[in-house]
Amino acid sequence: MNPIGVKIRAVGSYAPEKILTNEDFERMLDTSDEWITSRTGMKRRHISAPEQASSDLGIEAARIALQRANLTPQDIDCYVVASATPDYIFPATSAIIAAKLGATDKPAFDMEIGCSGFIYGLTVCAGLIRGGVHKRVMLIGAETLTKFTNYEDRGTSILFGDGAGAAILEASEIDSFLSSDLGSDGSNPAILLLPTGGSRERVTQAAIDAKRDMIYMNGREVFKFAVTKMIQSTARALEKAGLTKEQCNFLIPHQANKRIIDAASKYLEMPPEKVLVNIQEYGNTSCASVPLALDEALQGGKIHPGDIIVFVGFGAGLSWGAVTWRWQ
Ligand code: COA
Repeated sequence: MNPIGVKIRAVGSYAPEKILTNEDFERMLDTSDEWITSRTGMKRRHISAPEQASSDLGIEAARIALQRANLTPQDIDCYVVASATPDYIFPATSAIIAAKLGATDKPAFDMEIGCSGFIYGLTVCAGLIRGGVHKRVMLIGAETLTKFTNYEDRGTSILFGDGAGAAILEASEIDSFLSSDLGSDGSNPAILLLPTGGSRERVTQAAIDAKRDMIYMNGREVFKFAVTKMIQSTARALEKAGLTKEQCNFLIPHQANKRIIDAASKYLEMPPEKVLVNIQEYGNTSCASVPLALDEALQGGKIHPGDIIVFVGFGAGLSWGAVTWRWQ
């Protein structure tokens, strides 16, 4: 029996046209470009239009990936969406995307793991292919976080942006998937939470008035957790792959805060040229941030066959994870 490998055949990404700059925030809130830049590394974020849901962004990214792979929507065996901001609680955003692309008979499911969704998604989709269940899977990270952002809260509103990234994974003789390290700790969901709208707390006028239908976050706690888990998970994923940090060509981290990325990279002794950062352009786009950064690096000709990449993320849950990947 031949073991089945997996590779990423093509990637696409999309960000809405409208931009919110730090200067725009200076006009809206008691904040400054200097504060936001020095504390987060962010300069701009892309904002979805009122009529754009996460599926609409995901479709754009998926179309680009399909075009680059020279494939049709029917050539994809399964659609998977990682999102913290799906179109609805149900049905699945993945099914909506598949249908709008023109595939109405394919399996489709969503994954909700906060901002770690794309990392978990890579693991699951690679598993589906390596296990022989599907030959080709579309993984999409799609987010419209700005629809859940409280623009009266300077501690959270400056952080989030909208966007989508899609990767087509397919069976391959050579295996790109080298290891995965995933984790979660749900003992204190309140650290990073969207309180209302689920089965725990219904949407009432009082909840809306109290902005409980928006993102709540303990920034300092998330910061500490994120640095620790980014370090641990990257180190564990490399160890599981039998690789050293020197053998890693690129670290593609979830783009939540440049200071989180810098602190973890420094500890991991990853020089800046190996750490891909585009947070200045997009802010935190949750499950879209890793594929947005991957696409930018691929389009910029940075990544070459044979390169070892560690994708690493963390987010609500709390959740975290890292995947080691050999590009081909
Ligand atoms: N502009 C100006 N001042 C601000 C501000 C803003 N946009 N946001 C917060 N402040 C103020 C606070 O009110 C506080 O003032 P005080 O000392 O008078 O109370 C001060 O800055 C320091 O606040 P603190 O929360 O300690 O700042 P920080 O250095 O931790 O930065 C975050 C805040 C949110 C940028 C940072 O904690 C962070 O990025 N955390 C992780 C968030 C994250 O990654 N979330 C998603 C994970 S997937």
